Amino acid sequence: MLYSGYMKKKVYSGIRATNRLHIGNYLGAVKGMLTVQEDYDCIFSVVDLHAITTPYDTKILQTNVREIIIDYLAAGLDPKKCLLEIQSQIPEHTELAYLLSTIYPVSRLEDLPTYKDKKAQYPKYVNMGLLFYPVLMAADIMLYKGELVPVGIDQEPHIEVTREIVRKFNSMFGETFPQPHRFNTEGEYVPSLTGNGKMSKSVEGSYITLTDDLETIRKRLANAPTDSGKVGGQIERDKEGVGALFTLLYLFTNKQDGSLDHIYEKYENEYRDKTIRYSQMKEELANLIFNELQPLQEKRKYFEEHPQEVDEIIAESREKCLIRARETIQEVKTKMGLIYR
Ligand code: TRP
Repeated sequence: MLYSGYMKKKVYSGIRATNRLHIGNYLGAVKGMLTVQEDYDCIFSVVDLHAITTPYDTKILQTNVREIIIDYLAAGLDPKKCLLEIQSQIPEHTELAYLLSTIYPVSRLEDLPTYKDKKAQYPKYVNMGLLFYPVLMAADIMLYKGELVPVGIDQEPHIEVTREIVRKFNSMFGETFPQPHRFNTEGEYVPSLTGNGKMSKSVEGSYITLTDDLETIRKRLANAPTDSGKVGGQIERDKEGVGALFTLLYLFTNKQDGSLDHIYEKYENEYRDKTIRYSQMKEELANLIFNELQPLQEKRKYFEEHPQEVDEIIAESREKCLIRARETIQEVKTKMGLIYR
């Protein structure tokens, strides 16, 4: 089958190339990507230019980029249905980002919670790229005229910035870009195994990676906090501590066909009745997670053993992305008066 997405709704999403993917990325972003690739014209990117705004190791950046492409393929993103992009291989991203930066106020960028968080996290590494981050992200989406963006809820402020830039551009230079919206997925908030906050690559002990075997998953879950089991009442999934465990169980049992509902209900009832045994719950949860990851791990092995196939997929996608990116840049530069018309 030929790639034939031009008339469909356009989707763009990216994952920072900072580390291997964990189940938080899988539930929060990749699963959404799997759903939309069936019906829409999709580009999924590894955003390496965003990754270098925070401290990183030049020696492993390329490995990380490659690993995420393989994770994408292993998870079921299908190069016949979507394009897989490595952001820095399409220089038009930075070109468009610069052009857009001239129509957006610095003060708005300085006020963004994501920028403030990063500033607090790396006080000695507050570079221009960090401030520019949302403009580059807007350029990513706008370069391909993206309309839907499957990302976690924490990215909403950046999508809002993108919409503001779209409106500003359209009003200054004529209708050019659609206003993008975030595409919601069920697992948009995946809790940390530490029991507080969100699962994150940068917090040790908070995550399960897509390549963990059953034993590793068991070990990681063993450290997740529980309580005496004698609290009783209705479990609150958004509570810190044991709530995280229930949220994970919920995310891995909540299937569309309802086939695993009884497992979640069983533990919910035991919690209420003060008969819950957390070791048993963790064992069952470890099995559920591993069952979901196992097919991905087998597919990953295939791509690891066929590196040339991966190279070809990347090269073909790149060519198609370049054509579309150049079209947008031509249009933008013409509208902005940078090319004679
Ligand atoms: N900022 C996003 C994140 O941290 C990554 C990203 C960069 C992105 N550019 C994008 C996501 C464009 C969606 C669309 O998750």
